[in-house]
Amino acid sequence: DKEEDLQTRPPVVTIMGHVDHGKTTLLDSIRNTKVTASEAGGITQHIGAYQIEDKGKKITFLDTPGHAAFTTMRARGAQVTDITILVVAADDGVMPQTVEAINHAKAAEVPIIVAVNKMDKESANPDRVMQELTEHGLIPEDWGGDTIFVSVSALKGDGIDDLIEMIQLVSEVEELKANPNRAAQGTVIEAELDKGRGSVATLLVQNGTLNVGDPIVVGNTFGRVRAMVNDLGRRVKTAGPSTPVEITGLNEVPQAGDQFMVFVDEKKARQIGEARSKKQQEAQRKESSKLNLEDLFN
Ligand code: GTP
Ligand code: NA
Ligand code: MG
Repeated sequence: DKEEDLQTRPPVVTIMGHVDHGKTTLLDSIRNTKVTASEAGGITQHIGAYQIEDKGKKITFLDTPGHAAFTTMRARGAQVTDITILVVAADDGVMPQTVEAINHAKAAEVPIIVAVNKMDKESANPDRVMQELTEHGLIPEDWGGDTIFVSVSALKGDGIDDLIEMIQLVSEVEELKANPNRAAQGTVIEAELDKGRGSVATLLVQNGTLNVGDPIVVGNTFGRVRAMVNDLGRRVKTAGPSTPVEITGLNEVPQAGDQFMVFVDEKKARQIGEARSKKQQEAQRKESSKLNLEDLFN
């Protein structure tokens, strides 16, 4: 894409942290803070991702447990995350999966914002969290480093606005851009076989705009986008950069981390899709015949 075609796009945020440090509660809290009055109460999240809007700017949050998002997606060559929120419970401190999360984010070169959670608890000790994280290279700005720390209580909703503000700030620094005026490409977040609707896939559009009717190659399968549903379960006709959307119309079920690409020409999409799925079938055949041979020797 040429520089002049690029436009600012929303950041895609994943939340990581140790078991029970409050990842799910924080995701719920962020969503609830930003739901408009007309939607309040009636909102049920439809897919494994959601978008909020804050001062006219959108932020996309992925629900996939952060670790899985990083390991499965990155193993398949996909990078979907722009910013990681590292949740650390102030009453528990840095734990093994906290360190794992830091390592994933560092390897992917994704900026980290630390959310020191459970600040409402009497046993909360944010200084200890800061001290422990310093040992892993995350040094708070107050201590001369460049890592943003935000104190929150996901349970009470305290500090959520600050956290959102910091996400917007980091997003601006990162200068995230995409070209909405081109054929869409992106990554599969999750997919399943639905009894009624067939193959159902949640896609994250990373560049371009996805439209109903688009011929599309997804991993080793292909099809034509039959219908699209957004994070609120509403039917939409288009989805621009950083938008998560659920689609039907694929011949088979793709895998999380698979890349997708729209082809303007349906014949081309079909050719590429068929070639890819044939290649995969051959690989599977080889794999199973290898197994059979191994069986003979064992
Ligand atoms: P896993 O997905 O199992 O790894 O856990 P998680 O990180 O998603 O944590 P979850 O949101 O399920 O929270 C774990 C427990 O901590 C729940 O009982 C929450 O109610 C509680 N919790 C989460 N945030 C807070 C908080 O800010 N304050 C207090 N007091 N409790 C919290
Ligand atoms: Na939990
Ligand atoms: Mg959880």
